[in-house]
Amino acid sequence: MAMASAATGYDRLAELKAFDDTKAGVKGLVDAGVTAVPRIFHHPQDPAAPRPPLSHPTHHHDVVTNSSIPVIDLSGLGLTRRPELVAQVKAAAKTVGFFQVVNHGVPDAAMSEMLASVRRFNEAPAEARRPFYTRDASRRVKYSSKYDLFWAPAASWRDTLFLDMAPVGPSPEEIPPACRDIVFEYTRQLERDAGCLDGLSVAAHYYPACPEPHLTLGAVKHTDATFLTVLLQDGVGGLQARVEDSCWVDVPGALIVNVGDFLQVMSNDGFRSVEHRVVATSDGPRVSEACFFRPSGPAASTRVYGPIVVKDAAAPRYRSFTAAEFIGSYRDRGFGGRPALDRFRL
Ligand code: OGA
Ligand code: NI
Repeated sequence: MAMASAATGYDRLAELKAFDDTKAGVKGLVDAGVTAVPRIFHHPQDPAAPRPPLSHPTHHHDVVTNSSIPVIDLSGLGLTRRPELVAQVKAAAKTVGFFQVVNHGVPDAAMSEMLASVRRFNEAPAEARRPFYTRDASRRVKYSSKYDLFWAPAASWRDTLFLDMAPVGPSPEEIPPACRDIVFEYTRQLERDAGCLDGLSVAAHYYPACPEPHLTLGAVKHTDATFLTVLLQDGVGGLQARVEDSCWVDVPGALIVNVGDFLQVMSNDGFRSVEHRVVATSDGPRVSEACFFRPSGPAASTRVYGPIVVKDAAAPRYRSFTAAEFIGSYRDRGFGGRPALDRFRL
């Protein structure tokens, strides 16, 4: 592969660097009028699942079926319906690993303003975004396309503004003015609902319209290194979950909850952290915001997590780890490789 690339004069690293140096993200490419997806974004050929002809309307993966994501109505939480709701959440977490929530108490206005602010930030002139563009992992506010650009097999058709909000959030001046007020307001609403968790990071994603969606992906298949992820998405669509091995289902709905890797470990595989991806689309832009509930700050490197085995004296299936160790392993691997969970499996 490397030799063939050299022979055709394709210098991948130089192209990645040139793209990264623009500090304007994929949106910058679209603004510059690209009509073809640059090669750094081409998803590598999978010999087991060859790419279909270019005229094929969808990406080169598997069957996509109609949605089978459960919808859970949270009205009455804390009252008499609590046991019933807990049973519904458990059933969803054990099977599809994803569910949509309605009547969750997060005001519509906060959700729509949150999405609007992500659009505002990404659609402002590139000069306004550039100061936030960074690959410095220690910053609490990072804008980039995307953290694993230089080691992932292929770049993804999206830009992300990533914020570590709790236990210690950024100061307001560190947050782009386009999102400053609403990000605090929205996460306050969500944390009130989620309660006692140890940390919250927010990934605000912008998926520009893509001229050749079959060649790339918005997000390659992955699981989340979280306890739980709460995803707010607009109506464009593109998120798919791998409910069974070769079957992707569309995940519609504004507020989606999915089980992450930490919960799968602590439940000793009782709850499922399910692979998901975002296909690229010419109908963009698409905007989403993922709230990652997971330990961060000092607790991430001191507190140890492992299976809490309560039933039938089943043997633990994972060794224990700190959140920092797990997230480090997850980041090194990049999205799309062998699941991070496998590295901790006994
Ligand atoms: C993620 C993710 C999906 C989306 O951020 O982990 O899966 O719809 N996002 O943006
Ligand atoms: Ni995810």
